[in-house]
Amino acid sequence: MSVLERISSKEAIALEERYGAQNYHPLPVVLSKGEGVYVWDVEGKKYYDFLSAYSAVNQGHCHPKIINALKTQAENLTLTSRAFYNDMLGRYEKYITEYFGFDKVLPMNTGAEAVETAIKLARKWGYEKKGIHANQAKIVVCQNNFHGRTITIISASNDPVATENFGPFTPGIVSIRYNDIYALQEALEDENVAAFLVEPIQGEAGVYVPDDNYISEAYKLCKSKNVLFIADEVQTGIARTGRLLATCGNCTCADKNCSGTPEVKPDILILGKAISGGVFPVSAVLADNGIMEVIRPGNHGSTFGGNPLACAVAIAALEVVKEEHLAENAYKLGRLFRSEIEKLINKTDLISMVRGKGLLNAIVINDTEDSSTAWEICMLMKENGLLAKPTHGNIIRFAPPLVMTKDELLDCITIISKTIRQFEKQKKPLK
Ligand SMILES: Cc1ncc(COP(=O)(O)O)c(C=O)c1O
Repeated sequence: MSVLERISSKEAIALEERYGAQNYHPLPVVLSKGEGVYVWDVEGKKYYDFLSAYSAVNQGHCHPKIINALKTQAENLTLTSRAFYNDMLGRYEKYITEYFGFDKVLPMNTGAEAVETAIKLARKWGYEKKGIHANQAKIVVCQNNFHGRTITIISASNDPVATENFGPFTPGIVSIRYNDIYALQEALEDENVAAFLVEPIQGEAGVYVPDDNYISEAYKLCKSKNVLFIADEVQTGIARTGRLLATCGNCTCADKNCSGTPEVKPDILILGKAISGGVFPVSAVLADNGIMEVIRPGNHGSTFGGNPLACAVAIAALEVVKEEHLAENAYKLGRLFRSEIEKLINKTDLISMVRGKGLLNAIVINDTEDSSTAWEICMLMKENGLLAKPTHGNIIRFAPPLVMTKDELLDCITIISKTIRQFEKQKKPLK
C-alpha cells in the first residue's frame, strides 16, 4: 500500500490494531490534517482539537512559521550527532537559556528522556556537591505523578497500570502525598535527599491544581535543606497555564508578556512537548552552572538530542509563543472557559466541577471513577465536532491550542453544553 493512497478510518484503525502494539486506547477518530485549532479526519470531517496532543501543540497545528523553519533547516542539515559541532545548537542553547533565565541547557528529545536526565543530574549533584554517600541518593516524588514511562520513571509511579509486571524498579525514590507540605517537610529530614521532583499541576492525574502557596512553600523548604527543586513543566510549561511557566509563582507575566523572572526559579527545569509546537520531539533540561557542571563528556547523551532540525524548530516555536502572546491568551480564555463551564454546572447534574489554570482544565463527571460515562461523553463530543479525552476515569481534560480565539472558544463551549444536554436526554451508553 502506497503512503499516498487514501484509506478510510476503518482501514486505518484495522491496520493499527493488526500491526501496532496495543499500548494506547485512542478515541476512534483518524486524523489526516491539522491547521491552527482544527483537525480533519480522513473522511473530511472537521473538529476542534481540545487536547493539543497533550499540550504539545500549544502554537496550533502546522503553524506556518514553525513549518517554515522545519523545511528550511531540513534542506540544509538534519543530524550531525554530537560527535561534531553544528551551526544551530549553540544558537538554540543561547536562545532557550536566555528565554527561561538559566545558565545552561541539556537538549534531549522526549519528555521522559528529559526527566531521566534531570534525575541523573540531581543524583550526580547530590554526590559531588552535596556530599551524599555513594549510592545513597534519594529523589522525592509525589503520588499520582506522571513523568513518563521509562523504568526509572515508573519506579516513581503508583499507577498499577504503569507498574504491574515491570519490576524490578529503580531504588532511591521516596513517594509522598501531592499538595501536602508537611509530608515534604518530613521527607526532607533525610539528608540523603538530593531532589524533589514535582509537577506544578498534575496534568495526567486529572489536572489537580495544588493550593496557591504549595509550590512556593515547597521551593523554600528545598532551599532550606539544600535539596534541588525540579519542576517537571513538560505539560504545564510554554504558556499553557496562562504563564510562560506554571512555576512563575505570583508573577504577572500573563499581563506583561514576561519572559520569566519567576518568584520560584526551579533548580532544574524540565520542558518538552510545546518547545517544538508539536512539530518534532524536542525536550530540554535547564539548570545553572553550579548544577550542570557535574555533567562531563560521556556522562549522558543522545544521538538526536540537540540536532539542528530540532534547534531550528524550537527557536521558531518559542518565538511564536511571545509574538502571539500565547500566555496572555491562555490566561484570558482560561478564565472565560471556567466561568462558562461553571454556568453549565449550575444547569446539569452530570458535571460536578471544573478546575485548572489557563487553558489546562478538566471537568469531573458526576459518576463513579470506573464508569465509562466520561468516555461516552467524549464519543458524543466527537460526533459534535470536538475532540477531547478522559484522563483518569471520570475526568475529562480540556487543553485546546493556545492560538484559539474568543469566538472559537465560545463555539466550543456551545458544543460541550449541547453534548451534555444530549447525553442527559439519551442516558444510554454509546458504543
Ligand atoms: C508532566 C509530564 N512529564 C513527562 C511526560 C513525558 O513526556 P513524553 O511523553 O514526551 O515522554 C509527560 C507526558 O505527558 C508529562 O505530562
